[in-house]
Amino acid sequence: MARQSKAGVINCDLGMSKPFDIELERLTSQAPYSEIARGAAAGQRGTFFLETFGCQMNDHDSEKVAGLLLSRGYQQVETPEAASLILYNTCSIREKAAQKVFSRLGEYREKQNEGKVIGVLGCVAQQEGEEIFKRAPWVSLVCGSASYRKLPDMLTQLEAGNQRVTGLDTDTDATFETEVTRRDNPWRAYLTIIEGCDKACSYCVVPFTRGPERSRGSDSILKEVRQLAELGYSEVQLLGQTVNSYADPTPRKMRFSELLLAVADVQGIRRVRFTTSHPSDFTPDIVEAIEGQPKICDHVHLPVQSGSTRVLRAMQRTYSREVYLEKIAMMRDANRPIAITTDIIVGFPGETEFEFEETLSLLDEVQYDNLFSFKYSPRPNTPSLSMSDSMSEEEKGRRLAVLQDRQREIQSAKNARLVGKRFEVLVSGKSRRENQWSGYTTSHRMINFASQERELLGTYVQVRVTGASPNSLVGDHAV
Ligand code: SAH
Ligand code: SF4
Ligand code: F3S
Repeated sequence: MARQSKAGVINCDLGMSKPFDIELERLTSQAPYSEIARGAAAGQRGTFFLETFGCQMNDHDSEKVAGLLLSRGYQQVETPEAASLILYNTCSIREKAAQKVFSRLGEYREKQNEGKVIGVLGCVAQQEGEEIFKRAPWVSLVCGSASYRKLPDMLTQLEAGNQRVTGLDTDTDATFETEVTRRDNPWRAYLTIIEGCDKACSYCVVPFTRGPERSRGSDSILKEVRQLAELGYSEVQLLGQTVNSYADPTPRKMRFSELLLAVADVQGIRRVRFTTSHPSDFTPDIVEAIEGQPKICDHVHLPVQSGSTRVLRAMQRTYSREVYLEKIAMMRDANRPIAITTDIIVGFPGETEFEFEETLSLLDEVQYDNLFSFKYSPRPNTPSLSMSDSMSEEEKGRRLAVLQDRQREIQSAKNARLVGKRFEVLVSGKSRRENQWSGYTTSHRMINFASQERELLGTYVQVRVTGASPNSLVGDHAV
């Protein structure tokens, strides 16, 4: 679900900019709007700039942090220059992502002299902790995602003149819920249903940076979905690092597939998405839910990481190539076609040429609709750090390029077969070029299309595919 490197047609980034000026009515709120509006309009507490890197969970956390700050009377601004509080929500999944944090913090150095407060949130904050104060003494706030509930207290401490505050606990049962969430996209709403991760993949920082798994109660999820529908959202995307490991803590004990169906039943909801699914918890009832309820989108992101059972074992992924292929077969047997996407790591310690070729043969076998591929990056605290990572960067790069070429061929052929087909598209982007729009199909394919209509944003339209390349589809508005 991270987006740093990708080789394909389905673009995880929304084909639209992130507007800052969403009307207050769009804020999801249990608190009276007028109260929030008063605080926000007055900007009594100053202004904040919030920059976000990483996965959709980080994007959504930032939406919640923004909501929290707005409800406390801060105003959101578009540049660090205009802000009194600069917050940086960080990602640590690969070394490059983490390095970027410190170079960005370097740029903020002189901002502290201008009296600005600088804070680091997210996965690098959790991972590096107080070390951040040593490397960047101009930072005053360091807070990991499991402690965001404490942000209001931390801000109060800073306002009271405290120089340095931290929120680094991960031993919390709570999930991060806010009274107000300032969502970036007016049609698709993210909703985290499970935080943290209890898997222990040997290369991955997430269990350290996001803490143990905590599921949110189904009653509170459904209440928020009803509110979202009332506010005009028609698509919801349920989020979790292992979204399908969802374990309802309420007495209803809804299974993940039951939750999908219950969300789809909410009046006004037209599309339900979910990401990321872990293969080991991907059970037949999820496929049955997709088959039986067209509002549940026909797209499953099922990261495989490697096509070699030996490497999967070294990665502690808890399934073999064969078991993974059984999950794929389950989807291929469904009475509704399901688009399948994946994540792959090349150059894991000890990966032989033969094992890499097993990954290539898996691509041929599965015929993914898209994939995100990464060179293995050794990360702090992870078990694979102690495995010898002797492969050169050049060789990792070569394997990545070979893999991406193979996938490009697959996508080229798959997309060519879509020409002439009609899809329902939720229009989410408008090009600067006249009469050009873009949006996503239920299977999360992005289509650029032409239409003479004056206003289509946020509507559902039928689009006929007229052309395809490995990475994109083009079409015409079909009436
Ligand atoms: N929870 C999801 C993915 C989380 S991170 C899952 O289990 O699939 C998103 C992707 O980043 C992973 O699927 C993996 O492909 C990649 N990734 C994670 N750690 C990495 C590392 N140390 N080096 C390279 N890629 C990594
Ligand atoms: Fe990381 Fe594995 Fe958890 Fe995914 S399932 S977040 S890869 S530890
Ligand atoms: Fe997401 Fe990056 Fe953290 S991928 S969970 S923001 S390490």
